[in-house]
Amino acid sequence: MRRVRVDSVPAGAKLARTVFSSDGGVLLMQGVELKESYLEMLKKRGINEIYLEDGLSEGIEVRDVVSETTRNEAVVLVKDIMTGYSFSDTIDVENVKAIVNRIVDELLANDDILYNLTEIKTVDDYTFKHSVSVCILSIITGIGLGFDTVQLRELGLGAILHDIGKLCIPREILKKPGQLTMKEFEEIKRHTILGYELLKKSGQLYLSSSYIALGHHERYDGSGYPFRLKNEEIQVYARIVAVADVYDALTSDRVYRKKLKALEVYEYITSLGIHHFDPLVVENFVRFVTIYPVGTGVLLNTRERAIVVKHNRRVPTRPVVRIVYDEDMKRRTKEVDLSEDTGIFIVDTCEI
Ligand SMILES: [Fe+2]
Repeated sequence: MRRVRVDSVPAGAKLARTVFSSDGGVLLMQGVELKESYLEMLKKRGINEIYLEDGLSEGIEVRDVVSETTRNEAVVLVKDIMTGYSFSDTIDVENVKAIVNRIVDELLANDDILYNLTEIKTVDDYTFKHSVSVCILSIITGIGLGFDTVQLRELGLGAILHDIGKLCIPREILKKPGQLTMKEFEEIKRHTILGYELLKKSGQLYLSSSYIALGHHERYDGSGYPFRLKNEEIQVYARIVAVADVYDALTSDRVYRKKLKALEVYEYITSLGIHHFDPLVVENFVRFVTIYPVGTGVLLNTRERAIVVKHNRRVPTRPVVRIVYDEDMKRRTKEVDLSEDTGIFIVDTCEI
């Protein structure tokens, strides 16, 4: 299977992965033949990408680290909390605890964890899906750091609720497509403190989990907010969620900008982000995350177009690829391990 933009899908193509709404309902079932009306419906709902099964990508398998069912249930629970809240409420996180424990169990049962960025977010369901992705990425990093199950559960619970304070920020500021004024940005910053207070008030979380809401925008060099804490002054869970939060935000389309290219995000996290993030956390984060997700189209320096077949853990910028078009866009099929053939490299991601 391969990941493609909906506007480049020809009618009649076969859907490789079920498309869900943010309510957990099935919009289109895996295996369905994509009619023009289906593609229009996806576009109307803001779903810009899907997975296709076709001759070019035959045999390419895209694996999830957490099952689709668990991920979807988690998204629905987060959505329920974030849309059903009114200011007089305390929040009930008992169900969220159970789903986070399931995510931890599924990840620990995985003998070869690789986060492949399979989630497809729309601008509307971004917040809910982002929360779940941040939770999964944080737990994966925690596993890399050698955390035990109790720590992973605490981390996962705080991570999935890290932005809960946004419930208390006016929607028009959160959804504003243009640049924020200073005053609006100051208002947004308050989601850290408000989130922490909301979680503490619920009485259902350890302080270490609630603290993630407070500390996830602090930066390792002291340039973050709300308290401009530095280095180990920032609690380790919050240092992990900071990386997961930025990574997932940059790899997603937002109201005010398109997602960044895969390599740009990787470079931001590993080099530019060196001042912002704990280096040990970054080291453990990038061990488990693909730069070029399996099933995505890439342009090579030879002008050939290829699909990523397999991630190379040792050399993450050089996966195994299947060349499907030569430089004249003539069809061909040849698999190359870019970690062995060093004359060929990926220039960019592209549509096939
Ligand atoms: Fe945040």
